[in-house]
Amino acid sequence: MLHYIFLLTLPLVAWSLPSPDLVGPRRRPTRFLVHSRSEARDIDYWNRPRSDSFLSKRSNVHSVDFFTNPPSSLSARAPFALSSPASPLFAPAENKRATAGQWENMSGSGVYHPAVTSWGPNRQDVYYMHRDRKCRHKYYRGGSNPWNPDWDDLGGSLDSAPSCCSRKSGYMHVFCKGTDYQIWHRPYGGGGWGSWEPMGGNGKHYPSSCSWGGRHASVYTSSGDNQLWGTQYDEKSGWGSWQNMGGSLAGAPKAVTWGEGHTGVVVRGTDGQAWVTQMMNGNTWGSWASLGGSLESEPSAVAWNGNMAVAVGGTDGAVWMRTYTNSTGFWGNWMNMGGDVRPGTPPEVVAWGTQMEVYYTGRDGALYRKKANNGQWTASWENMGGSVVTKPSGMAWDNGKVDVYGMSSDGSTRRCY
Ligand SMILES: *[C@@H]1O[C@H](CO)[C@@H](O)[C@H](O)[C@H]1NC(C)=O
Ligand SMILES: *[C@@H]1O[C@H](CO)[C@@H](O)[C@H](O)[C@H]1NC(C)=O
Repeated sequence: MLHYIFLLTLPLVAWSLPSPDLVGPRRRPTRFLVHSRSEARDIDYWNRPRSDSFLSKRSNVHSVDFFTNPPSSLSARAPFALSSPASPLFAPAENKRATAGQWENMSGSGVYHPAVTSWGPNRQDVYYMHRDRKCRHKYYRGGSNPWNPDWDDLGGSLDSAPSCCSRKSGYMHVFCKGTDYQIWHRPYGGGGWGSWEPMGGNGKHYPSSCSWGGRHASVYTSSGDNQLWGTQYDEKSGWGSWQNMGGSLAGAPKAVTWGEGHTGVVVRGTDGQAWVTQMMNGNTWGSWASLGGSLESEPSAVAWNGNMAVAVGGTDGAVWMRTYTNSTGFWGNWMNMGGDVRPGTPPEVVAWGTQMEVYYTGRDGALYRKKANNGQWTASWENMGGSVVTKPSGMAWDNGKVDVYGMSSDGSTRRCY
């Protein structure tokens, strides 16, 4: 009962009023906001054929209609192979990438999926919400004894998976929804941890944070009003006020950046479709655009070198992907990747250079992967083994290393490396 009272009253009292220059377009009832800016584009526009080579060699391109209403002949998914032969295409960096069957049991007793970030070569940081609702942290520092031996207890009173990001070497931020529904933040920098800081807000799901580097970080949350709220950090001026970004969200947002001035936020709308808004110039959000689709859970995304890829678990149990290329301003069509995604666990997508990998947690608890080199995808899903029940949290770091984390049913954090 207390929960409902909080949900009803907190939006009124807990959000600081956005300053006038930060107020986004007003939300219209029952649909995502679409305002009169010239970049508002319809589905046909987004799906227009592209002349660039990125992802253009795909053979399994389907339209949004196909995704939403697949022919009945395809609604029973074809079985997919559980292993794929090693491809010479990937040989150079193969030893740095997550390897099938190569898992580390990092122990712990967690509740939701772990979160991971890196501030540079030879450094990974992993966070999870422990059963005591406090945040736990482990870090990888390379060398012969690469991990700090025990999970650090960072305290807090968490009610969600954490989200983390790094601005630069030696600086990190970890965020969560607290048991009081506020978003909480704990910064690391200058060799030590700051204290947990309440940021206000009325979080409904776990938050999502990102940094385009240097002085900047930002965090986004789906609120009790189902709208997206975000706030930006600058090292000099601190956190700005919350900005109401509108929308009608069913699930946690996913925020990504390919560098200075850019952020994309992808969400699952209450209509089940993927929606995206992007900031290109460091301070103005474009209008919401529907990416279509029929999502079973929240989307995942990655941004790099002026590209953005969105990977989702469809209501048909398959993995679907769409990619945006900044140089052309176009989204490719949805690509049906097949697979058999464990319900409630979105896939994970990582990318660097011309490489991309997508992972999902199968119904059987194993992790599965497909890889792409310059838009050429491996045909079948590779069974990575393991025993995970949450969505995978993957990261491409240190120029082509890939590590993927998940939580096992016993609460231990598992790492595929
Ligand atoms: C993983 O580690 C935890 C804690 O050390 C242990 O309880 C569990 O049995 C381990 N699981 C496996 C499969 O080794
Ligand atoms: C994105 O596109 C804009 C406009 O063409 C360009 O100014 C900008 O440099 C591009 N950014 C990246 C990272 O490609």
